[in-house]
Formats: sequence, C-alpha cells, structure tokens
Amino acid sequence: MSTPLAQVAFWRSGLLLGLIALLGVALLVGVHDLTRARIAEQEHQLMMQQLSEVLPRSYYDNDLVSDVTTLTDRGAFGHDRPIRIFRARREGQPSAVIMEVVAPDGYNGDIRLLAGIDRDNTITGVRVVSHRETPGLGDPIERRRSDWIESFRGRSLQDPSLERWTVRSEGGDFEQFTGATITPRAVVHALARALAYHEQRSDKIFAREADRDDA
Ligand SMILES: Cc1cc2nc3c(=O)[nH]c(=O)nc-3n(C[C@H](O)[C@H](O)[C@H](O)COP(=O)(O)O)c2cc1C
Repeated sequence: MSTPLAQVAFWRSGLLLGLIALLGVALLVGVHDLTRARIAEQEHQLMMQQLSEVLPRSYYDNDLVSDVTTLTDRGAFGHDRPIRIFRARREGQPSAVIMEVVAPDGYNGDIRLLAGIDRDNTITGVRVVSHRETPGLGDPIERRRSDWIESFRGRSLQDPSLERWTVRSEGGDFEQFTGATITPRAVVHALARALAYHEQRSDKIFAREADRDDA
C-alpha cells in the first residue's frame, strides 16, 4: 500500500504532465494559425504581384481579387478545368479582365497562365503561373528565362488574324524554341481560345455573380 505522501506525489506529477501536454497543444494551435495567416498573406501578395504584371494598375480602381467569377467551358477551352476570371472596373465600368488560361496540351501536361485582356479584346500582358515543361527546352515561356511571353502584349484576333495564331513553322506569327515547338504552340493556341471566348462573352462575364468565397 502506498503512503499518503506517495499518493500526493503521484497526483502532482499527473497534473504537471497534463498541464505540459495542454500547453504543447495550445502552442501548436497558435503556431498553426499564425503560419496559415502568413501563408494566406503571402499567396495574396504573390497573386497581386502577378495580376499587376499582366494588367497595369491604371485599368482599375476595384478590388480585383474579390471581383472574381469562376467557370468551366470544355467547348470553348478544350478542357474542363475551372477558370477564374478577375474583373477590372474603373468607376464601376468594366475596363478589362484577367483570365486564368490553361494550355492542356503542353509537352508535360497543363501550362497555367494569367492573361490580361482589355475591352478592345487586346492582350495587356501574359505570365506563366505554373508548368512542368522540360528545363532548357520548354521553359523559355517563363519571363525570367526569356522575353518570349512579352510577344503577346498588344496582340488581338485582328493582329494577327486567327489562322496566324500559331508558331512560325506552321505559318503563324509566334516564334517557337530551338527543338521545342510543342510548348510554345500550346501557349499560343490557349491564348487564342481565351481571346475568342472573351470576344464573344465579355458582357456575360461582367454580368455574372462574383464567387462568394475566393479563399
Ligand atoms: C526528353 C525530352 C524532353 C522534351 N521536352 C520538350 C518540352 O518541354 N517542350 C517541347 O516543346 N518539346 C520538348 N521536347 C521535344 C519534342 O518531343 C518535339 O520534338 C519538339 O517539340 C518538336 O519541335 P521541332 O518541330 O522544333 O523539332 C522534348 C524532347 C525530349 C526527348
């Protein structure tokens, strides 16, 4: 049989252990919440940075990130990935969009882009957001690798005409890369589809309800 003194020591250690465990859990929850908030903030900053690279700030005075609508359209885009469209407005009037564009036929799967398109259906800028193309072959689509992606700025379906929205080796207006035609062709075709979509449905895009939660 244990003495009363031993019993007190036993309960005291139990209590201490419980307290330490509780403190540990509280600390973990706190760190998790802090990290999540920081990641969300960093993602927001990165998104704002990318948006500003494809559409000059002078185009809008609304909060782009909360004026988003998401849609899918296999017929128009050739894939059924959800596409987010950020709507730019100046003094309440539609001024441009930034579309998430997916080229599903890259050498190694989806190439994801952001494209700014103004009300005249002219491209204001394009950036590659993610891809898995081969380094040294397909990656000149990235702005930090080459200025190829800048060749779309100012272009529309009138400049060049639709049949010339492909790479030079197929009679198009856009350069391919040495030994790599698949990647640039996939990007050029996806941008032409985005322009065609925007040309036909710009008003409908602006009439849609904004997504409720863009988190
Ligand atoms: C290992 C390997 C990786 C390749 N990666 C790419 C790529 O990322 N993008 C691309 O367009 N072509 C890539 N290619 C080349 C394509 O298979 C294809 O030959 C090329 O795009 C056709 O371009 P061309 O008409 O200029 O020869 C790769 C080829 C090999 C063998």
